[in-house]
Amino acid sequence: MNTLHKNDIIRLRIEALAFGGQGVAHTDEGFTVFVRNALPEQEVDVKIVKKRKNYAEAIINRVVSASRFQVEPRCSYYGACGGCLLQHLDYAEQLVQKQRQVIETIEHIGGFQDLTMLSIMPSPEQYYYRNKMEFSFSNRRWLTHSEISSQQIFDNNFCLGLHAPGRFDKVVDVHCCFLLSERSNLVLNQIRAFAKNSQLAPYTTQDHSGYWRFVVIRESKQLDGMMVNLVTAADSAGDRLLEQLAQQLTTTFPFITTVVHNINKKKAQIAVGDEERILFGPGYIEEKLDDLIYRISANSFFQTNSAQAENMYRLIAQWGDFNKDQVVYDLYCGAGSIALFIANKVQKVVGFEIVAQALRDAELNSRINRIANCEFVEGDLKDQFADPAKVLARYDWPAIIIIDPPRSGMHPSLPDKIVQLQPNTIFYVSCNPATLARDLKLICQDKYRIDLIQPIDMFPHTAHCETVVRLLKK
Ligand SMILES: C[S@@+](CC[C@H](N)C(=O)[O-])C[C@H]1O[C@@H](n2cnc3c(N)ncnc32)[C@H](O)[C@@H]1O
Repeated sequence: MNTLHKNDIIRLRIEALAFGGQGVAHTDEGFTVFVRNALPEQEVDVKIVKKRKNYAEAIINRVVSASRFQVEPRCSYYGACGGCLLQHLDYAEQLVQKQRQVIETIEHIGGFQDLTMLSIMPSPEQYYYRNKMEFSFSNRRWLTHSEISSQQIFDNNFCLGLHAPGRFDKVVDVHCCFLLSERSNLVLNQIRAFAKNSQLAPYTTQDHSGYWRFVVIRESKQLDGMMVNLVTAADSAGDRLLEQLAQQLTTTFPFITTVVHNINKKKAQIAVGDEERILFGPGYIEEKLDDLIYRISANSFFQTNSAQAENMYRLIAQWGDFNKDQVVYDLYCGAGSIALFIANKVQKVVGFEIVAQALRDAELNSRINRIANCEFVEGDLKDQFADPAKVLARYDWPAIIIIDPPRSGMHPSLPDKIVQLQPNTIFYVSCNPATLARDLKLICQDKYRIDLIQPIDMFPHTAHCETVVRLLKK
């Protein structure tokens, strides 16, 4: 029985970072406490803010002794902005913590034992590594500590930036972000000034009124190209304004190669439109990985860290031990990035994906790169794989299956269908160790074994970690 209560103040030594980035510590009785913003080896006085049966959550009241891994965050929004939760942790230690989390999660949730894992692959860049950022408009501005202490008066009813940690209703007004590129900040600030000057308000989920919803900036890291995607509610007066905004932006910033307008008529706060208008340029940008060119539209998935995505695809190409007799399935193929990367090594790749626009990009990408042995199929994977015998009859037996699902992992019916197809090798690419572990458990059973695990840091300063796992048939 533990004697901890909400609002208790206790002293703890932080042992490690838990999945999600919180510090983890144990009381003298062995009770687990997760501490927000804490760092490994810190000694802290904490206040318990939540008490559950098996764990408690706490916030730091006072740091008694600092962590030797603590560094000065580069960004002035650090702490208020939910973008980079680990910027105060030395990068080498971020890697140590992520590596440990991946193995512990796979062992704990997946029920595996004595796994060995390769050393985590550091990101080639620690700042300005992203090729895409999504900024939100809001009428509920979240002030940083320095903004509050400056005693200036701020307009709290209009802001454009990133969400406060865990607060989907509060947005920090971000003028400078170190994740995308320096020039993208100039674009962001001009859009904010224009939108604020308009007579239109930010969209709000309080009563679903307002116009401005998101700005998504996408940028090629290896080629020249920037896409500005303005996501709004439906309003014809606003549509005319956006045409002016597009003209203003492309005149001021000649490096913007395309501007698109996505109109989201739904209540759900997502940066995807029901309709898309191209306001300037071709409506897409192109990125280069190895010697392949990828065309990317506003709503297609593309890995956000181009340099690290290239490293990851090279790893799959190398580990696949592919040959020209093999058929490969690429599940959750997006715009065909992995399929095209390995196409010249195999007989045929069949890509499966739910987003039609991504598949159009995948087909175009095949043509641009003169690749003729990839086929892309649209639909929900749980329906496409409902009958494995039909899949085999239609697309041939896959010697290798590559699975790269969204954070939520695979539909629960899918692991069994994949096992029924009996590929020799399965690659599971995941951005969420918890769903990865759950799905590996379902796939492996007595049929497959984990052969190689490679954690990859795609997202420095965040608590996220990418992992590639190779499974072999027993
Ligand atoms: C993590 S991305 C991987 C994309 C691609 N493999 C790459 O590296 O660029 C996951 C993809 O799964 C797609 N997706 C999500 N749910 C799906 C489903 N139920 N059926 C098929 N595809 C789905 C998404 O649209 C997205 O393109």
